[in-house]
Amino acid sequence: MPTPTRDIEIVPSILSADFARLGEQVREAEAAGADRIQVDVMDGRFVPNITIGWPVIEAIRPYCSIPIEAHLMISHPEPYIAEFARAGADYIIVHAETCPHLHRTIQQIRDLGKGVGVALNPSTPLVALEEVVEYIDLALVMTVNPGFGGQDFIYSMLPKLRRLRALLDERDLDVDIEVDGGIGLDTIAAAVDAGANLLVAGSAVYGRPEGVAEAIRGLRDAIEVGTGRS
Ligand code: DX5
Repeated sequence: MPTPTRDIEIVPSILSADFARLGEQVREAEAAGADRIQVDVMDGRFVPNITIGWPVIEAIRPYCSIPIEAHLMISHPEPYIAEFARAGADYIIVHAETCPHLHRTIQQIRDLGKGVGVALNPSTPLVALEEVVEYIDLALVMTVNPGFGGQDFIYSMLPKLRRLRALLDERDLDVDIEVDGGIGLDTIAAAVDAGANLLVAGSAVYGRPEGVAEAIRGLRDAIEVGTGRS
């Protein structure tokens, strides 16, 4: 029995924000109706870029009341999960590719009272999730190869999203599907139509000339026009 239609949430990623005024940018996104904020943590090993760590979550925490997701694109996340939880992350997302003991890592995040997500890179098959999908709050399907903002959406991930939605519906699991990478006015409706309900957008929110509020409004309009859903 298909799960009820899930709330569609816009999740700005701060990777493309102005790091010199991050608190303001986060506040701006929340005021514009963003549902969550995603912080992209990169270590220069799992992905070819180095960004930020838990101190930035601590710094922006007072500026936003909506949930903060820590997207850990790092090689060995387990030793640092407690720090991200302490810093104020509400959800901690690890990559299946970096967790040889994924079942235990999920439990580690749960034991800290945080929401847990597992992310899959474009080349990682859904089977990597099958044994643990019932224990998570969200499954993140990367629609770019992680490391940088502003990349092109990988359309071949749409069938993967549909298969994941079907798997969750078939097992009647209450799990959100998040997509991250290349989400913008011309791709967001296709991602929702394929089954995603958490839409991470970095450059489509923070890299737009019309500003954050208009950008978020435009994304919601694109979803409504493209899918009839709001
Ligand atoms: C991995 C990062 C990016 C970022 C979103 O590279 O996770 O996907 O959050 O970047 P945009 O929305 O600009 O593709």
